[in-house]
Amino acid sequence: MIKTLLPWVLASFYLLPSSAKLYQNPSELVKTTYDYIVVGAGAAGAVVAARLSENPKISVLLVEAGVSNEGIRDVAIPLMGLSLTPNTKLDWNFTTTPQPGLNNRAIAYPRGKLLGGSTSVNYMVYMRGSSDDFDRYAEVTKESSWGWDHMQEYAQLNEKLVSPVDQHNTAGQLIASRHSTSGAISVSLAGNPTPIDSRVIATTKELSSEFPFNSDMVGGDILGIGWAFASIGNGTRSSSAVGYLAPAAGRSNLDIVINTQATKLEVTGKAKDIPSFRRVLVAQDATSPVRALTATNEIVLSAGAFGTPTLLQLSGIGDRTELRDAGVATVVHNPSVGKNMSDHALLPNIWNVNSTDTYDSVLRDPAEYKASLAQWLKDRTGPLGGHITNNLGWLRLPKTASIFKTVRDPSAGPKSSHFEMLFVNMWVNPNTPPPPTGNFMSVVLALISPTSRGSIKISSSNPFTKPLINPNLVSTDFDIFTLVEAVKAAKRFIAAKAWSGYIQDSVGGLDAAMTDKEIEAYVRENTNTIWHAVGTAAMSAKDASYGVVDPDLKVKGVDGLRIVDGSILPFVPNAHTEGPIYLIAERGADLIKQDFKESK
Ligand SMILES: Cc1cc2nc3c(=O)[nH]c(=O)nc-3n(C[C@H](O)[C@H](O)[C@H](O)COP(=O)(O)OP(=O)(O)OC[C@H]3O[C@@H](n4cnc5c(N)ncnc54)[C@H](O)[C@@H]3O)c2cc1C
Ligand SMILES: *[C@@H]1O[C@H](CO)[C@@H](O)[C@H](O)[C@H]1NC(C)=O
Ligand SMILES: *[C@@H]1O[C@H](CO)[C@@H](O)[C@H](O)[C@H]1NC(C)=O
Ligand SMILES: *[C@@H]1O[C@H](CO)[C@@H](O)[C@H](O)[C@H]1NC(C)=O
Ligand SMILES: *[C@@H]1O[C@H](CO)[C@@H](O)[C@H](O)[C@H]1NC(C)=O
Repeated sequence: MIKTLLPWVLASFYLLPSSAKLYQNPSELVKTTYDYIVVGAGAAGAVVAARLSENPKISVLLVEAGVSNEGIRDVAIPLMGLSLTPNTKLDWNFTTTPQPGLNNRAIAYPRGKLLGGSTSVNYMVYMRGSSDDFDRYAEVTKESSWGWDHMQEYAQLNEKLVSPVDQHNTAGQLIASRHSTSGAISVSLAGNPTPIDSRVIATTKELSSEFPFNSDMVGGDILGIGWAFASIGNGTRSSSAVGYLAPAAGRSNLDIVINTQATKLEVTGKAKDIPSFRRVLVAQDATSPVRALTATNEIVLSAGAFGTPTLLQLSGIGDRTELRDAGVATVVHNPSVGKNMSDHALLPNIWNVNSTDTYDSVLRDPAEYKASLAQWLKDRTGPLGGHITNNLGWLRLPKTASIFKTVRDPSAGPKSSHFEMLFVNMWVNPNTPPPPTGNFMSVVLALISPTSRGSIKISSSNPFTKPLINPNLVSTDFDIFTLVEAVKAAKRFIAAKAWSGYIQDSVGGLDAAMTDKEIEAYVRENTNTIWHAVGTAAMSAKDASYGVVDPDLKVKGVDGLRIVDGSILPFVPNAHTEGPIYLIAERGADLIKQDFKESK
């Protein structure tokens, strides 16, 4: 994103002594059989490996394609998250197919490739979704345990609320009873104030009917505009590697192997007439030797919304025709694998501001960067210890919106949103790097209740060939309507008196786009993704005619395989996705442990 800074960032990677016991490649592994093998050490995989290995009787191997997170300083520094992707050595470097809804642009689609997965490179906004989201998961799967109330026990295990690094008084910025202080991931309010925060909050008073204040949007009741939480503790990124894997590193029943990609799952027998898949082939790269590893109980796929469906397809589990086209023999025909991808489209909107106190200069000017780095190294405070967004908003279209004459409201329910606003004290635009001068504010919009559905499929039987990723963004009338209305809402927001003397003209044709047609053209030219793809191995009811996993996360039609990661969510939630994925991973681990107990 910040191209000008990239050489700096790479030069500042340095290695700290590593304490975790890790195998650097598959040939080092002493054992090849474990009770459970977890594929992928991202948001979900780290949780599963850490929770299963709490039981000393369970042996676990965690297989991760990428490197270790340890010692990479810019992974730890919150604001430097902007520099970690796309197209770096920590990224899978995916690109989408040309997107018809976005004037046929193909866009970069980053995914973290290191311990912690995307939680080691993401922007750390932390929330858990609306109560409607989980109640809808319960409804479509006919399994009440996925409902919001029941999932709260997993929220307790996941969140550890800590003070913001600047130790400011947080009265009025959160409701303590909605938070846990005993979980694994450090979560805090913004630790570095910015000049736009007070104006955002003032706008919620001035325009309170359209933009009401929300006193705590961590989960449940998310509607309105409020203070953002981040998975940051003491001015440092709290990824799944930091929060879950590091504390488990000393356990003798947990092995972790990095630089190791799972390339195929193999049939090891039959159970009640369905094929068992308890062997996984792994390799460092396309030319290195392949090793076979065996799970006596289960292989848990946590390779993420792209890695998991493609590994199923490489193993012969997927749509028969698609597999044949890729040169893979079908073992289990399931046309839902890789389908129904659901994602949040992102639309950056940027204005020049009358201020020099924005993050643009910190990330652009070597002297300012150096001073900020020194401050961060000293006590973790300052802009680098801060967060990309201090305030967020989750908003609905009005009930009278014309689209509802033809389209049924696709939101998860009345406590859920149609679009989001993120307020950012700098230029943010995945399409265009920042210019060499100027100070900016961005109101980034995200489409939260999309009706567009995308897909992912392999193009070859070679696991090192990139898959075809088609999020199919903004491909429906509802989606374009909602983004156009969201742009109009953002224009009304910044027209409040609270912004006078601060916001100047827009960049990129936003001011000039006045009519719905002109705004639509602006949307199609500028929309990207906020990287929240889910749904590609979706959970459905046991008796459903579609879907990839049952409500217990076991793969349909297959024995010995479970999926625990973002792919299983049938609808993208009212949240940045790490929080909801942490909750499903805690529950997934719980289900697996339950089965282990029952089988003893
Ligand atoms: C740039 C960016 C910014 C984001 N910002 C936010 C944010 O601010 N807040 C938020 O909540 N969410 C954010 N997200 C999304 C969030 O990080 C992801 O939704 C979440 O991490 C997904 O969890 P997961 O466990 O499904 O997959 P991941 O976290 O992506 O983990 C998958 C892991 O599996 C590994 N893997 C894949 N294939 C294989 C294989 N074949 N063999 C072995 N290992 C494999 C990968 O290397 C990776 O470590 C962002 C994502 C990105 C990319
Ligand atoms: C992604 O691109 C970077 C920079 O070109 C490169 O170093 C890295 O190896 C690439 N990663 C993958 C998985 O292709
Ligand atoms: C996609 O999901 C819908 C339910 O939301 C379902 O009806 C449909 O069959 C699914 N499609 C596939 C290919 O799984
Ligand atoms: C925060 O980090 C600083 C710098 O490493 C350290 O000195 C301090 O003890 C840490 N504080 C907490 C509460 O962990
Ligand atoms: C810029 O802000 C200063 C106060 O910080 C104010 O005096 C000045 O009028 C503003 N300029 C414009 C063009 O609004």
